[in-house]
Amino acid sequence: MNAAERSEQADQTKSSELVSSVEHISPDTLDLVARDLKMDPLYVEKVRREIQANKLIFIAAKNDAAYIASVGLCIGEADEDYFRTHLPGYAIVYSLIVNESNRRQGVATNLMDVVESEARHVGKAGVALGVVPDNESARRLYEKRGYTYVEPDEVANVESHWDITDESGLPQHVAVDLIPMAKEL
Ligand SMILES: CC(C)(COP(=O)(O)OP(=O)(O)OC[C@H]1O[C@@H](n2cnc3c(N)ncnc32)[C@H](O)[C@@H]1OP(=O)(O)O)[C@@H](O)C(=O)NCCC(=O)NCCS
Repeated sequence: MNAAERSEQADQTKSSELVSSVEHISPDTLDLVARDLKMDPLYVEKVRREIQANKLIFIAAKNDAAYIASVGLCIGEADEDYFRTHLPGYAIVYSLIVNESNRRQGVATNLMDVVESEARHVGKAGVALGVVPDNESARRLYEKRGYTYVEPDEVANVESHWDITDESGLPQHVAVDLIPMAKEL
């Protein structure tokens, strides 16, 4: 499937009233998304490299004025040991974010519908992700969609490494422990 067909497929699955289109983001349109969603520059460059390497599908939702949400779906090798070892064959969701003023209106649900349809399309067995333990809103979202805790006692044993820019503009490398959740497709 080429980029135009993918974009059309994504567009057909939009359902939130707030969303005018859901797009597959190419390296060329990534800067517009990054500007509207105020994405960290180090993260933008990682996303760009991974789109180019066909490792990541990056999807963003737009309303009439701007991009209001985005999500990454890793369809290549996961960065985290945990996912590679315990959930081979699963696509991994990264960095789902909806603009604060646009939350609770079904936008994340809309993006997750598209993400799961993409994962199915490329033949993945399921979709997995890591969630910060105290992120109740994200946990409720994923639970409502049928994601379950991979570890029965919800241990945060996905060690994830992020390169971010700190408040003084300096690069920082941080390690975060996340709880794994997954859904079979
Ligand atoms: C988590 C997040 C992506 C949800 O986006 P959203 O567009 O508001 O989610 P939706 O409107 O599709 O919500 C779907 C369901 O998720 C649950 N949910 C979402 N936000 C919630 C909240 N603040 N409190 C409780 N449940 C919540 C609800 O069950 C909701 O269904 P309902 O509105 O019918 O009750 C958004 O709050 C966000 O961007 N947070 C910051 C980034 C983040 O934490 N990302 C997740 C990384 S793992």
